[in-house]
Amino acid sequence: MPIVDDKVVLKHLVSMEHLSAEEVLGLISRGISLKNGRASHALEHQVFVSNLFFENSTRTHKSFEVAEKKLGLDVIDFHAETSSVNKGETLYDTVLTLDALGVDICVIRHSEVDYYKQLIGSATISASIVNGGDGSGQHPSQSLLDLMTIYEEFGRFEGLKICIAGDITHSRVAKSNMQILKRLGAQLYFAGPVEWYSEEFDSYGQYIAIDDVIEELDVMMLLRVQHERHDGDGTFSKETYHRQFGLDQERYQRLKSSAIIMHPAPVNRDVEIADSLVEAEKSRIVKQMTNGVFVRMAILEAIMRGRKEQ
Ligand code: CP
Repeated sequence: MPIVDDKVVLKHLVSMEHLSAEEVLGLISRGISLKNGRASHALEHQVFVSNLFFENSTRTHKSFEVAEKKLGLDVIDFHAETSSVNKGETLYDTVLTLDALGVDICVIRHSEVDYYKQLIGSATISASIVNGGDGSGQHPSQSLLDLMTIYEEFGRFEGLKICIAGDITHSRVAKSNMQILKRLGAQLYFAGPVEWYSEEFDSYGQYIAIDDVIEELDVMMLLRVQHERHDGDGTFSKETYHRQFGLDQERYQRLKSSAIIMHPAPVNRDVEIADSLVEAEKSRIVKQMTNGVFVRMAILEAIMRGRKEQ
């Protein structure tokens, strides 16, 4: 599919399921242009944005903040631990309040799957919602930076052999990526503990043992073991997990010379991937973090375009 223009218009960004292939390619294209030095559009008026993170984050939170500042937006501090959330304020009432104060865009990470539905369905709230991760639901900005990284490498998605390996059930990154990568024509494989795999993923790709397919892969996408979302399902020692499902030196050598390794991070070193491979030649893990800033600039631009057209 040829890459399309960079004129994507969004009211919210909450799930990859809501984006067309053209919109995805447009956002990636714009992210690449911004990374290559293309200037962002001048703001016509003051725009306020607030980042509401109710779950821990380094990359998503800080790269949205860098993206916002590069675009010249006014970033309104929000810290859940010192806000009225501690007095029982609900997420809905927090966003209702910020909206009433004039905040235009709320970037939100929350543990509740689909938390955004009550916000985008509200007749009162007019702020745009950007989902920075909803529990084990969706992580659209991570998915877009992953797609940008793959596109920069291969210039296409059609026919690429991509294995998503690890804690798939609990991973919002996996959910977002499997949906869009299948739509874009990639051939998907899933690997990892059967305890963290569900038949619902069969419609997107094939569940295999990592050693059965590693030599054929273009992209080896590793996932963090999400201990905070586990409920006693599947307990492995670091060594056992690394040996059975992780990327060690032996498996690294079996990858094609053109293959790349990805991981949304944070990385559990020597669990999903050997410590020595995080910055190895085939790794794009650091590049993914860098690309996050530019694709998030593209997302925010598309949202501002959408607000202008309202
Ligand atoms: N990949 C990712 O979402 O990282 P953070 O949890 O640090 O934001």
